[in-house]
Amino acid sequence: MRRHLLIAAALLITTSAHAHNGVKDPEVMARMMAMEKIGAAFKTLVSMAKQEVPLHQAKARMARDTIVTESGKINALFENPATDPKSEALPAIWDNWADFSAKSDDLTKAAKALDFKDRAALASTLSGVGLACKACHKDYRLKKD
Ligand code: HEC
Repeated sequence: MRRHLLIAAALLITTSAHAHNGVKDPEVMARMMAMEKIGAAFKTLVSMAKQEVPLHQAKARMARDTIVTESGKINALFENPATDPKSEALPAIWDNWADFSAKSDDLTKAAKALDFKDRAALASTLSGVGLACKACHKDYRLKKD
């Protein structure tokens, strides 16, 4: 039960898709696009974990690989404090760079630990990924109502 709540909470993270419409700064756009790929892959895994769609090994593997690859780019994409009126990135990122980059590494680790041999394994390992998203967004991404 708790596991399902975690996944439901984690899914909320992905609800602001296309927040990057109208972004002019190319570096801000690039980091948002990476986040959106992560968000889409995460959503795919959540819908498999929630049995909204069948657990499909190859699709799950692709989604896992996307999160591993794109999260591996977070540090390079965010290192320069680029800004844009549409950006949701908080200045705290660059005041706490070591912590921010540790949190992006945590996401890569959690994604590598994803296990999708069955739905229960996926659900429990996906919670770790969802928590990694939340841990970073909580401190470093502008809150939306
Ligand atoms: C290390 C920090 C960090 C981690 C980990 C992280 N995010 Fe983000 N995310 C951000 C920041 C910062 C922004 C805002 C970027 C901006 O607007 O410039 C963001 C923005 C987003 C966006 C909006 C993209 C857009 O088009 O504006 C989505 C969707 C998203 N994250 C999903 C996720 C998901 C899903 C996870 C976990 C699987 C995750 N994020 C993990 C820091 C993180």
